[in-house]
Amino acid sequence: MHRDDFPMLKQDIIYLDNGATTFKPQSVIDTMDDYYQNYSANAHRGDYSISYKVDVNYEEARVKVARFINAEPEEVVFTSGATESLNMIATGFFDNLLEAGDEIIISNAEHASNVLPWFRLANKHNAIIKYVPLDANLHITLDAVKSVITPKTKIIALAEITNVVGDVRPIKEICEYAHQNNIFVVCDGAQSVPHRKTDVKDLDVDFLAFSSHKMCGPTGVGVLYGKKELLESLEPLSLGGGMNESFDNPNEIYLKDLPQRLEAGTPNIAGVIGLGAAIDYLESIGMDNITIHEQKLKSYLIDKLTKLPYIQIVNEEADSGIVAFNVEGIFSQDVAFFLNKYNICVRAGNHCAKILKNSIGVKNTIRVSLYFYNTTEEIDDLVELLSNKDKIMKEMI
Ligand SMILES: Cc1ncc(COP(=O)(O)O)c(C=O)c1O
Repeated sequence: MHRDDFPMLKQDIIYLDNGATTFKPQSVIDTMDDYYQNYSANAHRGDYSISYKVDVNYEEARVKVARFINAEPEEVVFTSGATESLNMIATGFFDNLLEAGDEIIISNAEHASNVLPWFRLANKHNAIIKYVPLDANLHITLDAVKSVITPKTKIIALAEITNVVGDVRPIKEICEYAHQNNIFVVCDGAQSVPHRKTDVKDLDVDFLAFSSHKMCGPTGVGVLYGKKELLESLEPLSLGGGMNESFDNPNEIYLKDLPQRLEAGTPNIAGVIGLGAAIDYLESIGMDNITIHEQKLKSYLIDKLTKLPYIQIVNEEADSGIVAFNVEGIFSQDVAFFLNKYNICVRAGNHCAKILKNSIGVKNTIRVSLYFYNTTEEIDDLVELLSNKDKIMKEMI
């Protein structure tokens, strides 16, 4: 689908590492180029036409993001990525709320960015980290979440889709139950927002974090969504220009309203405008079409891999476009090096989910992560190479 839109796909390359980052369509590149070539001024500062154009396009991108996830524009804060968004939530919001003995629920399939900020917070406040047990298919059920909730639970922080095993979590049901028990839900949307329709109002999440570069947009930009009343009390981690109304002395600092209050300093203007173009692009394809295409490709891949007796698939039951596996007896990175000789890009290793090995018993895997521009022909090429274990053994170094 839509392969001609991507300059990177004109190369002789099979790119199956979309969980790490996606390629960018020409429209996104052109939009950013247009900013740098034709109206390269700062945002929210100038009293001249090109600066005004920056303001209009920057804020228009915010409106596009808000519409894309069904939020209000003032609930959309631009950050440098999902990592910064999650750190802002943990440190800016929960630092003031957490008390000794409080419990934070995560899972051991989370990405480092949704683990380490909570570890630090727990260490600082003598809070307790608890892990939702994964079922035999590495899924999280509402019952599993309920099983670790206690009257001390304050926060549930889970990815909607994990980056290694690709399971889709029942975030809406988790939010409903959590809110009945006065628990906040933080959702890491880095692997879900690019691949399926996201509706924060329907999910009723308190916070959502995601990155532009995993959804056809530029690197260095991300989104922190929060319910307005919660963002109002999120302490800005950075103070500076663009976010203050006025200041005179240390006792008189007046900050702007949301969302500017949380965007100190010159923002990544080209990046934000580029993210707006990425959203236009994804909407022109349709998020449901993206999900359906990825699921078809994933089933096609699983069907083929299961025919190879020495391939161990870790997450056969996952419902996203992520497939993790190993070739029996061969180190995952050696397989990735072998595939690279044939211009196939896959990820190998622990994928920043370093505590997942506690659940799956495997430390490293080969990960194929699909996007809408991947094809069955690419999967055929991958599987053909994997079909010859002797060749892998011979050529892997
Ligand atoms: C599930 C998940 N969360 C968070 C992140 C962090 O995203 P970024 O590095 O863009 O901040 C990633 C990146 O791979 C991810 O897969």
